[in-house]
Amino acid sequence: MIGVDIEKIDRFAHWTDEEFMRVFSKAEIEYANRFTNKIEHFCGFFCVKEAFVKALDDDGISYNQIEVLHTDTGKPYINRTRYVNEILHEYFANKIEVSISHCKEYAVAIVSID
Ligand SMILES: CC(C)(COP(=O)(O)OP(=O)(O)OC[C@H]1O[C@@H](n2cnc3c(N)ncnc32)[C@H](O)[C@@H]1OP(=O)(O)O)[C@@H](O)C(=O)NCCC(=O)NCCS
Repeated sequence: MIGVDIEKIDRFAHWTDEEFMRVFSKAEIEYANRFTNKIEHFCGFFCVKEAFVKALDDDGISYNQIEVLHTDTGKPYINRTRYVNEILHEYFANKIEVSISHCKEYAVAIVSID
């Protein structure tokens, strides 16, 4: 199963802290805040959440439960929380792969679930 999403970065330019906190996890906020172009990173994480939903064709997913973390080399992955593992179990899947890219105008993410 595969999902892709692209979003305009400026969609997040006027979001309030409350809006970010509703959609993004503490770890995602801490990660993005390390960068001067932080909304590019937020936008990429948002694309992951939308691509995850598309991969499963399931609109019952809570965006703030799909958390993007990074390996030591910077590669993104989805945190295998109990919530995520239960979803994978429901879809007879056990592997998730994620890729993110962003520039000044757009972010894009691909999520593969098998
Ligand atoms: C990883 C790399 C390819 C990212 O490419 P980029 O064009 O700088 O940036 P992009 O916008 O396309 O991608 C950024 C995303 O890549 C992902 N990423 C970072 N390191 C990664 C890695 N080691 N593996 C996979 N994905 C990685 C991250 O998700 C990042 O977004 P995030 O920090 O918001 O989560 C690049 O930074 C890199 O480290 N290359 C190493 C090789 C190199 O430097 N070669 C130079 C030869 S001239």
